[in-house]
Amino acid sequence: MNPIEQFDQERRERLASYAQDAAFQALSRDWLQASMQRKYVYNFDWLGRPIIQYPQDMAAMQELVWRVKPDLIIETGIAHGGSLVLSASLLALLDMCDAMEAGTAIDPRASRRKVLGIDIDIRAHNRQAIEAHPMASRIQMIQGSSIDPDVVQQVREIASGYSRVLVCLDSMHTHAHVLQELNAYAPLVTPGSYCVVFDTFVEDMPQGFFADRPWDVGNNPKTAVHEWLARNPSFEVDRNCPAQLMVTVAPDGFLRRQTN
Ligand SMILES: C[S@@+](CC[C@H](N)C(=O)[O-])C[C@H]1O[C@@H](n2cnc3c(N)ncnc32)[C@H](O)[C@@H]1O
Repeated sequence: MNPIEQFDQERRERLASYAQDAAFQALSRDWLQASMQRKYVYNFDWLGRPIIQYPQDMAAMQELVWRVKPDLIIETGIAHGGSLVLSASLLALLDMCDAMEAGTAIDPRASRRKVLGIDIDIRAHNRQAIEAHPMASRIQMIQGSSIDPDVVQQVREIASGYSRVLVCLDSMHTHAHVLQELNAYAPLVTPGSYCVVFDTFVEDMPQGFFADRPWDVGNNPKTAVHEWLARNPSFEVDRNCPAQLMVTVAPDGFLRRQTN
């Protein structure tokens, strides 16, 4: 076995051991709960824009983008624009790698790789900051509900011009809403790519944990994912992502579309 294979095998064994490690699992769940109570998820920026994600999930996005090499990332839920800028910057790195491999000049404005964000309420100050960001030429935004048929139609039309599409759902986290988003956007995911459904962890928190929100145990992205997957066998849960992260808001939320 060469050193690379050995490293990979050790990693696989380590992840498998985490799955049997009740103490580490409990610590991770408790830490997620404690950090959520303390609004830790609001602590970070990506290239200057506030991003409402855990660093672990940002790292997972980097791995997925490298694996899939998408030319379009569709995101529901923009907020301050941090996740749009994260996705745009990862696409910029893909372009840079392509250019370096081909020995050509990098022209980010000529790139086909884009991010499409949808939000029901794009606040003026956020729109202004996103449009002024150096990554703005890669970012397109649609204001409207992600389940509005007109919005879905616009997204479908835009996506039809791309060949590798990755989707992230991070808007309204109720069962009914996420189920409709999955029905609308998961079919746009190209084979081998992913639909990442954020905030599935709500199902694993104590009942009433999000007292000021319409989602709770039994009514959240994870319950929607499970209902939707039962009818959509071409997608599977990638268990490797949460296994390596341990702390993630998306357990059972990394959905991979099979290649055949
Ligand atoms: C958790 S934030 C998104 C965070 C962002 N993805 C990030 O990582 O920085 C959720 C966003 O979803 C938006 N939202 C709520 N309901 C929506 C709907 N029906 N359609 C589209 N966006 C919605 C909210 O306005 C809010 O900006």
